Amino acid sequence: MRDFKPAPPPIALLAELTHRCPLACPYCSNPLDLLKREAELSTVDWAGIFAQAADLGVLQVHLSGGEPLSRRDLPQLVRAAREAGLYVNLITSGIGLTADRLAELDEAGVDHVQLSLQGVTAEMADAVGGYRGGYARKIEVAGLITARGLPLTLNAVMHRANIGDLAETIDFAARLGARRIEIACVQFYGWALQNRAALMPSRDQVEQAKRVVAAALPRYKGVLAMDFVPPDYYADYPKACMGGWGSTGLNVAPDGMVLPCHAAQTIPGLTFPKATEMPLAEIWYRSAAFDAFRGDDWMPDPCKSCARKELDHGGCRCQALALGGDARMADPVCRHSPARGVVDRLLADLPESGTEPGADLPAYVYRR
Ligand code: SF4
Ligand code: FES
Repeated sequence: MRDFKPAPPPIALLAELTHRCPLACPYCSNPLDLLKREAELSTVDWAGIFAQAADLGVLQVHLSGGEPLSRRDLPQLVRAAREAGLYVNLITSGIGLTADRLAELDEAGVDHVQLSLQGVTAEMADAVGGYRGGYARKIEVAGLITARGLPLTLNAVMHRANIGDLAETIDFAARLGARRIEIACVQFYGWALQNRAALMPSRDQVEQAKRVVAAALPRYKGVLAMDFVPPDYYADYPKACMGGWGSTGLNVAPDGMVLPCHAAQTIPGLTFPKATEMPLAEIWYRSAAFDAFRGDDWMPDPCKSCARKELDHGGCRCQALALGGDARMADPVCRHSPARGVVDRLLADLPESGTEPGADLPAYVYRR
């Protein structure tokens, strides 16, 4: 019988309730093969998953998608997660959120709302989201959220076209009454990987963005908390993706498939059980997929003999596969990785100037 490596209990559950979404952002982290409504789990299935997750030690659930508001039963799902004892974070584009729906969600027990922001002008936001009128709606929705006293975080996804507006983006978040802004440069998985040539900011843009954040931090101290995640391609060492494979959190896809991260399905040879077919605890502690990259037995050199392996766990398995062709290799972002040259060549091939897709850069492939 197989021995599974020990693992701590998970802290967070990302519940991808649906892949349906009114927006079509070209950096969406959903897979290229989007699941249809018919494949989605029922309310009862999700309630069971929330209860099992809480028993397993999960503290917070992120209700995400797609757009979670596409699910009519969202208030029931919020209530079920709350009744399971979970802290409930709603991640939304805001499209479809009316004052009445928000009241229902608030009463059901939503604890916190994360609102995505595609740009600080209607022109930019609607072009990136592929949805006319989305920007105006979002501003209204931010007002509804803060008026109810719900804590609001803005998720500002930055890329080549909008990273130049970062200072305005931070000011905008403060004006909207957000308590926190997450400034995350696009991570290249799913649709974003398809659109990398159009979305990847230049090195100069990234350096300028770091200066903007450094200048804004003291100005907004105590008013607006800020997290800034620059693109890892420009770093010397990779991020500890998911805090290490199968060590802090798990994702459940709309059809119930339980995954260690967003892009795990791209890794060949792994089979991911569904939460409707196997108890969550068994999947977490005793499934081959979650066990695959725990610890360091699986690591080849240079990671195996590297002093940083406890810090970054060799980086991201999905990025190793996407860029280096092998999910076990050191993340190609790492300067010691045998595939670092792939990243350097990609960066060297970026156009030096231009931010407009379709003019200076390839047109976006929108998520549909
Ligand atoms: Fe991390 Fe591996 Fe690079 Fe060391 S060699 S820094 S463990 S990715
Ligand atoms: Fe899969 Fe990083 S996204 S391990």
